[in-house]
Amino acid sequence: MNPTRVTAFAPGSVANVAIGFDILGFSVDSVGDRVTLTRTERPGVNITSITGVVEDLPLQADRNTAGQALLAMQRYRNLPFGFDVQIEKGIPLASGLGGSAASAVAAVVAANAMIDEPLTRIELLKVAMEGEAVASGSRHADNIAPSLFGGLVLTVGIDEPRVKQIPVPQLIHAVIVHPHLQVSTKQARAILSGTVNMSDFVWQTANLAGFISGCYTNDLDLIKASLEDVIIEKQRQVLIPGFQQVRSAALAAGALGCSISGAGPTLFALCLEQDAGAVRAAMEDEFAKQGIETDKWIVSVQSGGAHVVSTSA
Ligand code: HSE
Repeated sequence: MNPTRVTAFAPGSVANVAIGFDILGFSVDSVGDRVTLTRTERPGVNITSITGVVEDLPLQADRNTAGQALLAMQRYRNLPFGFDVQIEKGIPLASGLGGSAASAVAAVVAANAMIDEPLTRIELLKVAMEGEAVASGSRHADNIAPSLFGGLVLTVGIDEPRVKQIPVPQLIHAVIVHPHLQVSTKQARAILSGTVNMSDFVWQTANLAGFISGCYTNDLDLIKASLEDVIIEKQRQVLIPGFQQVRSAALAAGALGCSISGAGPTLFALCLEQDAGAVRAAMEDEFAKQGIETDKWIVSVQSGGAHVVSTSA
């Protein structure tokens, strides 16, 4: 007998990780969204409440990332029943921490626990991607995949995505600093140039390859040398007051690299665990000099992905 009421949690995530625009991300389980689904005889998707740190999101299912992901799942499996949906937002709006993705992921993970022959994780990734497209205006998996799978995740392909969880040296931690500002993902994508200079392309390709190789071989020096975005960051930094100062302060405090989390305004720095406190303090201080308050976390880059929290018959 499948449960008729399920709650699932999906963590936030840092997308792009400086060098993997739209294809690389890692989960951040200090923040996350919870979705509770109740099975209904009436077909369709009915969002009954949105609570937590964000409340003013669309209740209309096809304009909400969780709602759209559930509609995609219903179509995919031709489900003969519907869902009442309660969304508890733990991830601030337009923060660059993957909130849109987390709601979509939590919704499909909860739905998957209610059906016979559950979808595979790759199938869940595909339906959740349809949900997130509502918020960002395009399909990309760099928030969805880490939120679903956990850890540092590379996604290759869109229609037939292939997902690889990348090992990260144990010593490396991430400092996440969320300034109290909002940046719309759609806007942050709209300002990007449609073309890339050849020399930047070569550097970014080398940096992505170097970063991934460094992760597999525990090569901290290669990770540090590679963790630099030469394409996206320079176009988006205007959206984040004090960006250069915060980044420089993080590097001076010992960070291996520091860049924008997803579309921003949150920044992340990767560093050795022993340096994390100093890096966090340096970033916080620089934002404070700009008169900007922050939330901040020190997290492992190896946290778990989305999971069911509770079920009832
Ligand atoms: N890769 C995406 C971007 C993440 O940077 O626009 C935010 O959805």
